[in-house]
Amino acid sequence: MDKTKILFVCLGNICRSPAAQGVMEKLVKEDNLEELIEVDSAGTIAYHVGESADPRMTEHAARRGYDLTSIARKFNPETDFDSSDYIIAMDNENYKDILGMDYIGKYRNKIYKMTQFCRKIKTSEVPDPYYKGAEGFEYVLDILEDSCRGLLERIKDEIGSELEGED
Ligand code: 4NP
Repeated sequence: MDKTKILFVCLGNICRSPAAQGVMEKLVKEDNLEELIEVDSAGTIAYHVGESADPRMTEHAARRGYDLTSIARKFNPETDFDSSDYIIAMDNENYKDILGMDYIGKYRNKIYKMTQFCRKIKTSEVPDPYYKGAEGFEYVLDILEDSCRGLLERIKDEIGSELEGED
């Protein structure tokens, strides 16, 4: 069975999407699903390409047990649309930007917003914490923990039905 590939996308790929990647990687590892689920992240702008996650995000994530290891890269429509199964935008602007790069809507059914997978927190976006204080980073992690759990349950259901269909 092919791996399910998740790509989290924010603006700079130094705060929200690296944190989403770190949270999801931990959940995947806890469920021993590393052979079946791959996690990556990217940004819609190139400004921070090559950088590690923002030290504030890294610190807040580490306090909850998440290791942020990503190096920022820009979303590449030439390769990322084809190679990903779930392309997950953090806010409305990221979502609009990704939809805009999918000129003929070929990949429309792969493009989601992170908050679609929330089960407890009611919000329509993962807000940009870059110019906010500690509370902004904590709130990002609250939303990501909720939504990553929801996303993993959905993917596990899909994997389960695929396995059932195999000979
Ligand atoms: P991110 O946060 O999109 O969650 O990585 C930001 C990172 C950088 C900037 C804005 C948001 N910036 O303006 O450079």
